[in-house]
Amino acid sequence: MPTEAATPRLIDRFGRQITYVRLSVTDRCDLRCVYCMAEDMTFLPRAQVLTLDEIALVGEAFAGLGVRKFRLTGGEPLRRNNVMHLVRRLGRLDGLGELVMTTNGTRLSELADDLRAAGVRRINVSLDSLQPERFRHLTRVGDLATVLQGIEAARSAGFERIKLNAVILRNRNHDEVLDLARFALERDMDISFIEEMPLGVTGVEDRFEAYYSSEAILDDLAGHFDLVASTETTGGPSRYYRAAGYRGRIGLISPHSHNFCADCNRVRVTAEGKLLLCLGQENAIDLRRVVRANPGDVGALQQAITEGIRNKPQGHEFAVGGQPVILRRMNMTGG
Ligand code: 5AD
Ligand code: SF4
Repeated sequence: MPTEAATPRLIDRFGRQITYVRLSVTDRCDLRCVYCMAEDMTFLPRAQVLTLDEIALVGEAFAGLGVRKFRLTGGEPLRRNNVMHLVRRLGRLDGLGELVMTTNGTRLSELADDLRAAGVRRINVSLDSLQPERFRHLTRVGDLATVLQGIEAARSAGFERIKLNAVILRNRNHDEVLDLARFALERDMDISFIEEMPLGVTGVEDRFEAYYSSEAILDDLAGHFDLVASTETTGGPSRYYRAAGYRGRIGLISPHSHNFCADCNRVRVTAEGKLLLCLGQENAIDLRRVVRANPGDVGALQQAITEGIRNKPQGHEFAVGGQPVILRRMNMTGG
C-alpha cells in the first residue's frame, strides 16, 4: 500500500521540503522599473529561453516531486507569446494545489478572464504609485490608467485573492504608503510593501539613499489602521497584518532579513532554465541542458532537480549600498 513516505518529496540538507516553485517565463517586459532594469535592456536571445513546452515539462517534473504551488513570473509573464497555452497546461497538472501569477497588469484587461478560466486562483499585481506622472517615472514608460483598468478586470474576473505589490523607495514613493494601502483595502485586495533588493545594475546607483525599511512603512500605517500581526506564514520573507474592518491583509516583505531562510520552501527557475536554489546566492542547476539533452524526458529532469536540491544553501546574503552581491536582476530570476 502506498504510504506517505512513498510519495516523492524534495527535501534539502537542512530538512526543508520544497513545495513551491517560481517559474520565470520570460526575461522581457514592457516596463522598465527603475529598481529592476536599466533603461536600455538587452534581453536574452530567444534560443536561450526555454520554449513553452520545455517550461511545461519542467512544471510536470516538479509537480511529480511533490511541488504543490507554481507562481508564473517574468519579466512580465503576460508578454510571452502564447503564454495562455502554458497556463492552461499547468492548470491541468495532477495534484497541483495552486497556480498563481505575478504580473505588472498591463495586459490584464485582455487576459484576466482567461487566466481565471485556466485555473489561476490568485494574482499579484505590481503597483508602486497611484500618481500617473510618478508611475510613468518609476516604470520609465508605464501608463497608470492601463494598469488600473487591468486591476479592475481582475477584480471582475473573480480571483480568490488579488494582491498588490508595491516596492517602496525613499524619496520616490514612500509618501504613498498610506494611499496605496487604502486603495487596496477599500477594494478587498491585499497589499505587500517590498523593500528594494540590491539585485543587478540598474543605472540607479543611489540605493542606500533609496532604502526605506519595513519598520518605517509599518509606522506610516500604524497611525491610520488598527493593525494586528497575523501568524500566517508563506515560508517567505513576508510578515502579514490584518487591518480591523477590512478583509484584505497588509504584508511587509523584508528581503534583507535572514529570519525566513530556516523555513524557506521555494526555488526558482529562470527563463533560461536555471534552477536557482536561493535568491540570494549564485548556485544554479542548468535545467535547459538537461531538457534539451533528453527531450520529453520528465525523469531526467526529476533526477537533476533532486540532486540539485541537496545543494540548496542555508541562507542568503544581500548587501545594501556598495556593490550588489547578486548580479542577476529580478527580471532574470522571477521575483
Ligand atoms: N527589489 C525589490 N523588488 C523588486 N521587484 C523587482 N525588482 C526588485 C528589486 N530589485 C518586484 C517588482 C514586482 C515583483 C515581482 O518584484 O516590483 O512587484
Ligand atoms: Fe517589468 Fe516587473 Fe521589472 Fe517592472 S519590476 S520592469 S514590471 S519585470
